[in-house]
Amino acid sequence: MESEIKDHYNSDHLTQDIKTALINAGFNLSALELKNLSPIDQLHTGGAPASINLFKKTNFSPDALVLDVGCGLGGSSRLLAKQFNCKVIGVDLADKFIEAATFLTQCTKLENNVSFQQGSVLDLPFENNTFDAIICQHLLMNIENKSKGIKEIFRVLKQNGKLILHEITKGENDTLLLPVPWADKTSISFLEPWDILSTILEKQGFETQSYSDGTHTACSWWEKVNLVSQTRSPRPNSLGPGLVFGDIAKFFGKNMYANFKNNSICLVEAILKKSYAT
Ligand SMILES: C[S@@+](CC[C@H](N)C(=O)[O-])C[C@H]1O[C@@H](n2cnc3c(N)ncnc32)[C@H](O)[C@@H]1O
Repeated sequence: MESEIKDHYNSDHLTQDIKTALINAGFNLSALELKNLSPIDQLHTGGAPASINLFKKTNFSPDALVLDVGCGLGGSSRLLAKQFNCKVIGVDLADKFIEAATFLTQCTKLENNVSFQQGSVLDLPFENNTFDAIICQHLLMNIENKSKGIKEIFRVLKQNGKLILHEITKGENDTLLLPVPWADKTSISFLEPWDILSTILEKQGFETQSYSDGTHTACSWWEKVNLVSQTRSPRPNSLGPGLVFGDIAKFFGKNMYANFKNNSICLVEAILKKSYAT
């Protein structure tokens, strides 16, 4: 299963393609700003503003050690380091994402505070009680065995540490239009409704500190993405999701908007606390 998921995200020349697109867009690779990367490194609903809003609610302590699990190209890892003074380790299943995330972090001169390693949430390569906080953004949709992934997250989080969730969950309608960013086929999409997910989290020992249903805002965000994608056809190799996901990216706006509108998917933001030590 993990190899199918890895194949969905990996592409052979990702780092080189990103490098070429950044140069074509006129950027100096040794002086990149985080905002230059936002068309490609925010692989979640709402982009960087959604992450910043959620991180502001978390009150990270200065120099907190944070795990960005399923970090993708590391957009949120770099935001946490730059704007919230965190030290961050990003872990992702897709080795090509780890290679590109490391390159982009060097280009933004954040390598002293942010590092990446390949690994799975189902078997995290860290000691018990390591992190002050863990962010989990748009990852659980790819995880079939959620109890196992959540157990691993719980294990590596310190007591009283925070888990920040920004996830797509299942709505009441069973139809899911594909492709969507996390899946081009049903065999790699594992959506659960929030009541099931929250039960798994609570059984594991997490206490919910805040929860908000971001479905309405998410639906409006994807409506705008859809409108933009209908009016503009991106040039080949331009900075955008097509660089990361290839041709299927052109269907994301239409399908995600329809999936939210039809109540097939919902968006959840939650902050949870690990209430006891492992
Ligand atoms: C939709 S992307 C979100 C990336 C990133 N969190 C963001 O918001 O920009 C989902 C990510 O989860 C990663 N992933 C999927 N299954 C995983 C697993 N078992 N362990 C770690 N990462 C995984 C994928 O490789 C991909 O980078």
